[in-house]
Amino acid sequence: MTGDFVIAVDGPAASGKGTVATRLGRELGLPVLDTGLLYRAVGVLTERAGDDPDDAGHATAVALLLTADQLEDPALRTRAAGELASRVAVHPRVRAALLDFQRTFALQPGGAILDGRDIGTVICPDAPAKLYVTATPDVRAERRWKQLRGQGEDVAYEDVLADIRRRDARDGSRDAAPMRPADDAALLETTEMTIEQAADAARRIVEAARARWEKSRQG
Ligand code: CDP
Repeated sequence: MTGDFVIAVDGPAASGKGTVATRLGRELGLPVLDTGLLYRAVGVLTERAGDDPDDAGHATAVALLLTADQLEDPALRTRAAGELASRVAVHPRVRAALLDFQRTFALQPGGAILDGRDIGTVICPDAPAKLYVTATPDVRAERRWKQLRGQGEDVAYEDVLADIRRRDARDGSRDAAPMRPADDAALLETTEMTIEQAADAARRIVEAARARWEKSRQG
């Protein structure tokens, strides 16, 4: 389905996939879609409407009407929004409702970068470059804790670690598009890496994938 050079960046919560995707986008001049924002928006808007995020019908109704401008809301970056996102993300009908938006983004001329949980496995299985970014739960919790505190959220590290573990378990065990690396994804383990090192490693993976992709198109 992919026409141009698409980069799929998947991985668990706070693994650094968003930062890696943003840097790649800047360096390569490609647009980036943080697909987690779609699920965050559905979760937050469902709750705001007084509806139940665990009810597939309620959450799907919101997902079907979602528009790009609703992804700008700063409330989507909060800890509560991450939890709501992972609750609505278990519903297959919610995932189906968000599919076209993501595929349309991926198919734009010149290529695109999408980060999420199922980009390399479900949304863009033919993407020529796939990364799966990971780190240990402790390190991810520390990164997320610092990020949340930077946003003014007063939260204990232990609570963030518990969130991360709960979300890993829910995202990895759900029936619909569970979080897992695509068979052809390059694994990027960032536990011992700085942001710079992770971004450099990602760039090397993408450069190699691009060279293979260009060669296959010539041949
Ligand atoms: O940054 P963080 O990983 O905490 O969150 P996110 O990427 O914004 O994703 C929030 C939640 O949305 C995840 O825990 C997943 O349950 C869900 N999600 C998904 O199911 N599929 C995606 N492509 C992206 C996010």
